[in-house]
Amino acid sequence: MVILGIETSCDETAAAVVEDGKRILSNVVSSQIELHRQFGGIVPELASRSHLERIIPIIEQGLIEAKMRLEDLDCIAVTFGPGLLGSLLVGLTVAKGMSYALRVPLVGINHLEAHLYANFLTHPHLRPPLVGLVISGGHTELVYLSGERNYQLLGSTRDDAVGEAFDKVARILNLGYPGGPLVEKAAREGDSHSVPLPSVHFKEDTFDFSFSGIKTAVLYYVMNLEKKGVSIPTADLAASFQEKVAEVLTERVFKAASLKEVDRIVLGGGVSSNLFLRSFLEKEKPKGLKVFFPPPSLCTDNAAMVAACAYPKLKAGLTSPPSLDALPNLNF
Ligand code: KG4
Ligand code: ZN
Repeated sequence: MVILGIETSCDETAAAVVEDGKRILSNVVSSQIELHRQFGGIVPELASRSHLERIIPIIEQGLIEAKMRLEDLDCIAVTFGPGLLGSLLVGLTVAKGMSYALRVPLVGINHLEAHLYANFLTHPHLRPPLVGLVISGGHTELVYLSGERNYQLLGSTRDDAVGEAFDKVARILNLGYPGGPLVEKAAREGDSHSVPLPSVHFKEDTFDFSFSGIKTAVLYYVMNLEKKGVSIPTADLAASFQEKVAEVLTERVFKAASLKEVDRIVLGGGVSSNLFLRSFLEKEKPKGLKVFFPPPSLCTDNAAMVAACAYPKLKAGLTSPPSLDALPNLNF
């Protein structure tokens, strides 16, 4: 089974060809970072226009690199949510057109599920039950996967997503855009115990997250030093912020694993490419617990995870109708 995956939910235009849900024949990602950098964040209108210009050449490149022709495709898989409406519609419209013209099934994919699925693509023997954590620019979702396609959402962020907090802290520290990798780089030179930052505790017992308090504490710390004319310890602040976020994520994800009595945790989404977070989880994990991450290139948005996620659905006959709509607020 040869599946073409299409991903345009945010600011990456991506196409990939994956065979039998496992073998990546091509994985092309065109990032719009340069386009949005001058604005310090993603401009939705520009994102969708740019997807429109890029999508056909990117699909063509995906087919060429995979050494496949259109007639070789058995299915078109496409992200239909969550994401930016205009951006989602570009990928979805192209996918529907291709499915109709080639007379092959269409499979709509939840972007969050695809981020977790990147783990099944790279660890073929991995199976549920497990606890999953999707951490990206727009999402912080903790889920329990009891069996194939059986997701139970345990907790979400009540304010900023983790990646969003990284991006905002990068802006406060004048590091640039997109912030996550730049905060990680700056933090390597810093002392993570030099700046005390608050932990957020909710009154009730919950798996929800909150990151805006930690971000705002960084902002006030910087403003206070600026008022005094003292230079900003950028590396120390980046390291302290990064470690506090790692602590919060680790605490919640281990608690969820214990409650659900699972011995496997999988991570996905752009923030899971953070090497400090990866080693922090490995270091802190209780005995017997295994932590899985996709390789960094499959953590950030890509279409290989979309094509791979479609394979078991296609086999189970779970295809989508041509009326499939974009759902910007889709969750698990
Ligand atoms: O999954 P993704 O590519 O797109 C969304 O679905 O949002 O995630 C992008 C987010 C951005 O906020 C980016 O700053 C963050 O992931 N990110 C990182 C790292 N690499 C990307 N955050 C922390 N450390 C990183 N190394
Ligand atoms: Zn994503």
